[in-house]
Parts: sequence; structure tokens; C-alpha cells
Amino acid sequence: MAQIYAVISGKGGVGKSTFVAGIARELVLAEKRVLAVDCDIGLRSLDLMLGCSEDTVFDWGDYILSRCDTEQLIVKGDCDLIAAPRFYEPEFTGENLKKLIDELKPGYDYIFLDAPAGIGSGFAAAVACADKAVAITTPDPVCVRSCGRAVQEARNSGIEDVKLVINMFEVKPAVKRRLLNIDECIDETLTPLLGVIPMDRALTFSSVTGEETGEFSPSTQAFYRISRRICGEKVPLVCE
Ligand SMILES: Nc1ncnc2c1ncn2[C@@H]1O[C@H](COP(=O)(O)OP(=O)(O)OP(=O)(O)O)[C@@H](O)[C@H]1O
Ligand SMILES: [Mg+2]
Repeated sequence: MAQIYAVISGKGGVGKSTFVAGIARELVLAEKRVLAVDCDIGLRSLDLMLGCSEDTVFDWGDYILSRCDTEQLIVKGDCDLIAAPRFYEPEFTGENLKKLIDELKPGYDYIFLDAPAGIGSGFAAAVACADKAVAITTPDPVCVRSCGRAVQEARNSGIEDVKLVINMFEVKPAVKRRLLNIDECIDETLTPLLGVIPMDRALTFSSVTGEETGEFSPSTQAFYRISRRICGEKVPLVCE
């Protein structure tokens, strides 16, 4: 039976979809069955990041509106994918998406729901289906504060197990604006840390080209350590 994670943030562009793609890849390498569900209605991106946009025909909106069955809906790959609807319809509620996810969860070890930024309807749909959440932020104070707000909203919706991932972390940032350190991010969001992913140009290229980052790239190493923690191993926080 799958563990179901909503991947949330406050501000956009902090790396939620990148996180889902990177973690899914590591969990698949560990022989776990993984399903990624894009909840970013109107702005889907996971199909591109997982390199399967050409195979993506239906989305979970089609399923809710009875235009396809689960066989047609799921894009099969190393990591399976369900795409987000291109347009919003009132039927695309958390309750209706949850029925689908509940039907699918016996077939997977992990399901990741990639929420859109903020706390709107896509966020609500992702959180309604999940029993845990990973909140992503960069060390930018604006992102950290809004991440804390999204965490609060997830907790209000009944998700107790929320963990923090700090993405695009730089030990020596090249920006003048003050960024928060790891402890400050934890304190500001009141959320325990799952991991830290460094700023890695290879990731930026990978999301454009669809090519995988190398095994030894700093972000791949970080995704590996986080995936081990998700699997329940105690992996020390090294200089990530
Ligand atoms: N650790 C990182 N190092 C460098 N670039 C990164 C890193 N993480 C993400 N990126 C880049 O940042 C951009 C935004 O990432 P992504 O689309 O995953 O964010 P998002 O939170 O899903 O955005 P949205 O809120 O729009 O859904 C992408 O170009 C991605 O390649
Ligand atoms: Mg995204």
C-alpha cells in the first residue's frame, strides 16, 4: 500500500516538480513502485520533466469526467505518471481525485502529488489525497515565510506528517540579499528537515533537455540521501 505525499510550497518555482522527478528516479532505482501525479491544473510540467510528454494523452480530469479508464490514464514508465488537466472544471475536486488515488494505492509503494504553488484548488486536491507532505522552499526569506503558510494550511487540512526540503541551497550564495541558514528555515516554518538540495546547474539543464543529471552531481547525491530517509533509513545530514 502506497505512502502518499503531497509536495507543496508557498511561492512558485522553488523546485516542487524537480523534487518529484528527482526523488521518483532514486526510489525507482531502489526498486520501489512510484506514481507521480501532477496536480498543477493548467500549468502541468511533470510529463516534460519525466520525459514522457509525447506519451501523455489523458489526464485525471478526463478520468473524473469518464473519458478514459485507469489503463488509458496512467503513462507507464520507470516511474508512472498521471498528468494534470489542462483546464479547470468544477468536478476536479480533492474528493474526486482521492477516489482515484485510493483505487491506485495498492499498486504502488510511493505516490507523489505535485501541487501547484500556493494554497488554491490544486493544492487542496493534492492535500486531500495525501497522508504526508513535503514542503519545499529555497533559503529566500520570502519563500520560507510563504512555505510556512502552506505548511500551516496542510496541517489544518489534517496532514500531521509534514517535512521540509530546502532547495537551491548555496553554502556561499552569490546574492547580496540575505538568505536564511538551515536552522532559520526550520524555525520559520516550524517543520522538521527532510533534506537539503544544493543549487546545481546540471538540474536546470536537465529540466530543459530531459537528460538525467549525472550520478555524481550534487543534486543527485542529495536526492539519493533524501530517498533513503523516505525509505526509513537514518542518513546523516552531510554538507548537502
Ligand atoms: N537545486 C536546483 N538547482 C538548480 N536549478 C534548480 C534546482 N531545483 C530546481 N531548479 C530549476 O528551477 C526551475 C523551477 O523548478 P520547478 O519547475 O521544479 O519548480 P516548481 O516549484 O515545480 O514550480 P511551479 O511552482 O511553477 O510548479 C526549473 O528550471 C528547475 O530546473
Ligand atoms: Mg511545478
